[in-house]
Amino acid sequence: MLMIPADLQMEAAMPEPTRLERLLFRLEAQHRCLGWAFREIGNRPGIVFEMGLGHGRTYDHLRSYLPGRDIYVFDREVDCFADCTPPADRLLLGDIGDRLAAAAARFAGQVVLAHSDLGSYGEAHNTAMSALVSRLLPPALAPGAIVLSDLPLDLAGAQSLPLPAGTREDRYFVYRNGAA
Ligand SMILES: C[S@@+](CC[C@H](N)C(=O)[O-])C[C@H]1O[C@@H](n2cnc3c(N)ncnc32)[C@H](O)[C@@H]1O
Repeated sequence: MLMIPADLQMEAAMPEPTRLERLLFRLEAQHRCLGWAFREIGNRPGIVFEMGLGHGRTYDHLRSYLPGRDIYVFDREVDCFADCTPPADRLLLGDIGDRLAAAAARFAGQVVLAHSDLGSYGEAHNTAMSALVSRLLPPALAPGAIVLSDLPLDLAGAQSLPLPAGTREDRYFVYRNGAA
């Protein structure tokens, strides 16, 4: 008679992560990565880019944990909780392709933390966002800047880092720009 080891029996009984669990893992990874990045940038000077205001949840987190930082927020629309609306002079409204190109020139080498959260359920959209941010963001980054993203990026001059301990793999992406 064929004996199946207990750990394999467990594996066979475990379903694929559900939509609910995938959302939970992604939010958990996002929260852990942001906390790690806040410690990494510490008191280093520099501005923050928040790409994808959405409902304003991660913007609220950034402004709460990085008081005093200049946080520039990108989105094509304002659809956030009313109390999470960024100040008008920090809100870069419009298509990210246009706004990020202009902002990268304006803030060349000054961004110490960039958080990109532009993904959706559409594969074509996500591929386009990955390519666009990968192409346009690097000139804005300060030496040693941290980039967090919900989508994989290919940033010239930056290296991919492992996710912080305890984070489930492949749910978020972390990069560090090269040193000066
Ligand atoms: C996943 S949501 C961001 C969630 C947000 N970080 C939060 O925590 O509430 C993605 C956002 O990216 C924005 N977005 C997607 N494609 C864009 C584009 N081409 N230009 C500007 N914004 C875009 C959408 O409007 C949406 O608000």
